[in-house]
Amino acid sequence: MLTMPSRVELRPLTLADQDEFCALVRASSELYRSRMQLPTTAEEFQAWMRRFDDGVNRGFLIRVRETGVAAGMVNINSIIRGRYQGASLGYAAFAPSAGRGYMTEGIAAAVQHGFTDLRLHRLEANIQPANKASLAVVQRLGFRYEGLSPAYLYIDGEWRDHERWAVTAPDPWTPDPSLPEV
Ligand SMILES: CC(C)(COP(=O)(O)OP(=O)(O)OC[C@H]1O[C@@H](n2cnc3c(N)ncnc32)[C@H](O)[C@@H]1OP(=O)(O)O)[C@@H](O)C(=O)NCCC(=O)NCCS
Repeated sequence: MLTMPSRVELRPLTLADQDEFCALVRASSELYRSRMQLPTTAEEFQAWMRRFDDGVNRGFLIRVRETGVAAGMVNINSIIRGRYQGASLGYAAFAPSAGRGYMTEGIAAAVQHGFTDLRLHRLEANIQPANKASLAVVQRLGFRYEGLSPAYLYIDGEWRDHERWAVTAPDPWTPDPSLPEV
């Protein structure tokens, strides 16, 4: 896991981010092809934002501290408590800021937030085998490869195989009160 001071910070995604977010997603369409589908219009954005209403999914912009520029987004999705205490990460760079290490730092911050503030025990990332940039990010962050999930996610009109990569909370870890005692 990264220990150096981060150039970025996480900002919860809000309705006020709509125009900036949609414009950056439109500018990133080449980068996302068959990998990621994100809202590009006001209508799509508002519908998409409803997924964050009940706290099961959390959405963040990764902003460069020095400039305030949004370099990308990261979601902590499908938070399940009980005996699982886990979630899965979804993330995408915005093309104008890609390839500068901001995503690695932003995802590191999301992992830290997941383990410390949300007190999750497990975070996973599901990545298509050909997505070398995403595989490089999780490897840099110390995720471990757990196996191939055939036909795992429906993206761009096809069920696509994904590799499952995961990381569990380092010790010492303070559990969420929802974790059963035994
Ligand atoms: C996957 C994705 C988020 C990775 O974003 P990224 O911009 O490549 O990631 P980073 O910001 O961490 O950039 C890493 C690159 O920046 C380089 N870099 C440049 N300056 C750097 C710096 N100061 N610090 C660290 N890395 C730096 C690194 O060398 C690295 O390049 P390399 O992998 O060729 O060695 C992006 O490719 C993307 O959005 N893809 C489409 C959507 C997607 O696939 N999402 C994930 C689905 S699982």
